[in-house]
Parts: sequence; C-alpha cells; structure tokens
Amino acid sequence: MIKHCLFPAAGYGTRFLPATKSMPKEMMPVVNKPLIEYGVEEAIEAGMSSMCIVTGRGKHSLMDHFDKNYELEHQIQGTNKEELLDNIRHTIDSADFTYIRQREMKGLGHAILTGRELVGDKPFAVVLADDLCVHEQEGVLSQMAALYKQFRCSIVAVQEVPEDETHKYGVIKGEMIKDNIIRVDDMIEKPEQGTAPSNLAIIGRYILTPDIFELIEATEPGKGGEIQITDALLKQAKSGCVLAYKFKGKRFDCGSVEGYIEATNYCYENVYAKDKQANELGKQSTHKESIA
Ligand code: G1P
Repeated sequence: MIKHCLFPAAGYGTRFLPATKSMPKEMMPVVNKPLIEYGVEEAIEAGMSSMCIVTGRGKHSLMDHFDKNYELEHQIQGTNKEELLDNIRHTIDSADFTYIRQREMKGLGHAILTGRELVGDKPFAVVLADDLCVHEQEGVLSQMAALYKQFRCSIVAVQEVPEDETHKYGVIKGEMIKDNIIRVDDMIEKPEQGTAPSNLAIIGRYILTPDIFELIEATEPGKGGEIQITDALLKQAKSGCVLAYKFKGKRFDCGSVEGYIEATNYCYENVYAKDKQANELGKQSTHKESIA
C-alpha cells in the first residue's frame, strides 16, 4: 500500500568527524553493510519499492552504492567473493532509487519537503538511517505499514528513554488508545531538561500522509532555527490525527559513537556471525550431497 520511502541523507554527520569528512555518515558500515542499506532493506521488507533519497554535497557514494559496479563485478566474477554481493544485488533489483539534492540544510522538516517531488501525493515512509532498528520477526516499518492500513493517518515510532535523555529527541504526549498505540495531543522537539511532556521519544521512523507537505511549508523555523517535522506533525495532530507507536524491536542510535559500537556488536553476533554459520553449514551439506 505504501510504495515510497524517503531517506533524508543530506546531513554532515559531524559527531563522527573526521570519519565523515568526505564519507557520508549513511555509508558508515555496521559490520559489513552501510547504515543506509539496513534502512533500505527494512523498507523493502515492508513492501516498499521506491527509495527516495534526499542527498547533499559530497554524497556521490550513496548513489554508487545502489548501482552496478562493472569493474569490480568483472574482477570477482567466478570467485568465492561474488557471494558477498548477493545481498546488495538483490536489494538493487527489488527497488528503484531516485535522488534529489537539498541545497541548504534547514532541518528535517525542510529535508522531507525537498523530497516531495520524488514522493508525490501519496502516503510515504521516512527512515532516518542513523537510527538502526532490528527485530527478529518483523521490521519496524512493516509493523507501522500494517498500522497505517488500519488507521490511515500519520504515525511516528516512539520508544521510552531515560528522562535525562529526552532533550535529544522529539517527545510526544497523548492518550493510549490500544496496546502500544497512542493518539498524540502534544509533541515538542528537543524539550529543555526537565520540561518533557513524557519519556516517549520519537525515533527515526515515520509514516506521513501527503498533507504534511503543506503543513511543513507553513511551519516557521523552530528548535535550533530549523524547520522541524515535529512542529508540522503537531499541527496535523491538532487538526486531524497523528498516532505514536511503541514499536517492537531494538533501536540503536548510530548517530552516537556509543550507539554505533553497540549496533556493531549486536549485528556481528546476531546477524553477521549467524548468516556466516548458516552459509557454511549450507555449503557443507551441498558438498556432502555432491559426494554422495
Ligand atoms: C530527529 C528529529 C527528532 C527525533 C530524532 C530521532 O532529530 O528531529 O524529533 O527524535 O531525529 O533520531 P535529530 O537526531 O536529527 O537531531
């Protein structure tokens, strides 16, 4: 039902300097896969097939990543290295990728508005790639897409955070209407310490209805002098409905060094090492079958 997924990816990634001096932060690898690829896989798993990426200066490697690299593929053709590209090849074949450049950084709301041309006039998802989300059964976007089918309104993913961390996030308040689903009646971007309306923080997964674009256009710069999606969503909540969803799964803040290391350890143990073991077992059994 939701086809488009928007990836705001124009930011500088200053918290990871000097690593991000010439490399986009979305290309930072967690084990052997760039952050944005995890997000794209999550969107594809949720049934989306159009990846719309809002880029900025110096982000060429993002485009190259979701494209063929003939020279490399020719070099490794027929060797056992080829299977390392299986996943990304499959991802590239499962979706189309379009790009638009955000010339000025005026905040997340502005980045989303920049993607309007790519997304069109339909509901769409937004993924902030530095929030890496994992769930063993069903990805967060998939969970949210199912909710959208039922409620047909904008949805933000939320998570409980310690009170002394609420100032880093958009924070919501509202009424619990069902297990894990809250109807938002207030939301505030990065509240000052001690003033947050709750400990439910927005994390980087959204489903937005297209009327959000006009609301963003009419949104004045807010926190940090930037156009905030949180402010536009509050208007939507006041005039219609916005839901917050306490998702199932884990989220790692890969915008911070600590979160990035945690994600790396988790993905190494729970994804990479397991896949590798399964692959090796698979090879052994094919080998045995061919001997037999
Ligand atoms: C953005 C949003 C914020 C949200 C956060 C999630 O902030 O503005 O509401 O809680 O992403 O990661 P940023 O971290 O880009 O400053």
